[in-house]
Amino acid sequence: MAKRILLLGAGGQLGQSFLALANHFPELEFVSANRSQFDFLQPDTISALLQEVKPAVCINCVAYTAVDLAEDEPEKAQAINVEAVQQLAATCQNMGILLVHFSTDYVFNGARGEAYTEADETDPQSEYGRTKRDGERVIQASGAAHLIFRTSWLYSAFGKNFVKTMVHLGADREELTVVDDQVGTPTYAAELANTVLAWLRDGVTPEQYGLYHYSNEGVATWYDFACAVMEYANLSARVIPVSSKVFQQKAKRPSFSLLAKNKIKNVRKIEIPHWRDSLREYLHAGED
Ligand SMILES: NC(=O)c1ccc[n+]([C@@H]2O[C@H](COP(=O)([O-])OP(=O)(O)OC[C@H]3O[C@@H](n4cnc5c(N)ncnc54)[C@H](OP(=O)(O)O)[C@@H]3O)[C@@H](O)[C@H]2O)c1
Repeated sequence: MAKRILLLGAGGQLGQSFLALANHFPELEFVSANRSQFDFLQPDTISALLQEVKPAVCINCVAYTAVDLAEDEPEKAQAINVEAVQQLAATCQNMGILLVHFSTDYVFNGARGEAYTEADETDPQSEYGRTKRDGERVIQASGAAHLIFRTSWLYSAFGKNFVKTMVHLGADREELTVVDDQVGTPTYAAELANTVLAWLRDGVTPEQYGLYHYSNEGVATWYDFACAVMEYANLSARVIPVSSKVFQQKAKRPSFSLLAKNKIKNVRKIEIPHWRDSLREYLHAGED
């Protein structure tokens, strides 16, 4: 019998990336749900949905993701990223459901000069980062079987993301300014989703439960990322590197948030593609 997966937040960027792969995993039965069926601001609706669907696994792609706006509405970010997640985890724990959840490189302060491991101390610099970190903690404290994936700089064919914005602006303008003082790694959402689904298909053992980092391999600044988008998409706009001080964003981002991926690579015996290879493949696939 196929393993039933409840996908929460199926309309978001990562949620759509999961759904797009559903046909590749016939061993998994997908039930997808979005805001019309539940609301993270009314957490009882989440428990009701889980009781109704009775999945083996719940993949939570819901989050308050407006990084700058979260500085102005921290209560809302807290309600969605922490309080609702706490109730979700408690229900998963009660019902014996494996909870798959996503977090962010913004849980770190960026002061470390080398890649962050799962064991490194968190020190979020923004409301978004803080609520995402606290969301991890409520899951870990709940006793629910869980996999939490910290990821960074997601892009895909879905939703709003940096690559889509760069392609759009690159086709419209002769010149773009992009920050060159934040270091991290892009992540192709389809590869993250595929890694998770392959794991669920193969079976997750209790000793594998826990926190994992997943991004593409390699290191980049947003400037490097933008230059690569222009190159692989054959756009001629010039990219000008600037300091993040020029953009005056409300929320502070870590200046360095490279994620070490040794844990997932060892546990799953996988290789992760370099960000340039994934980006090139993604942009070339779009040309067909
Ligand atoms: N995007 C990135 O670069 C990035 C980087 C690191 C980590 N992450 C993490 O990865 C995960 C997925 O991110 P994403 O890029 O896919 O985000 P996204 O595109 O903003 O999707 C968020 C989803 O949450 C839903 N949602 C928000 N508030 C809700 C509520 N009150 N009730 C029900 N649903 C609600 C949205 O529904 P609507 O569509 O109806 O609004 C949407 O489906 C998140 O945990 C995020 O923190 C993302």
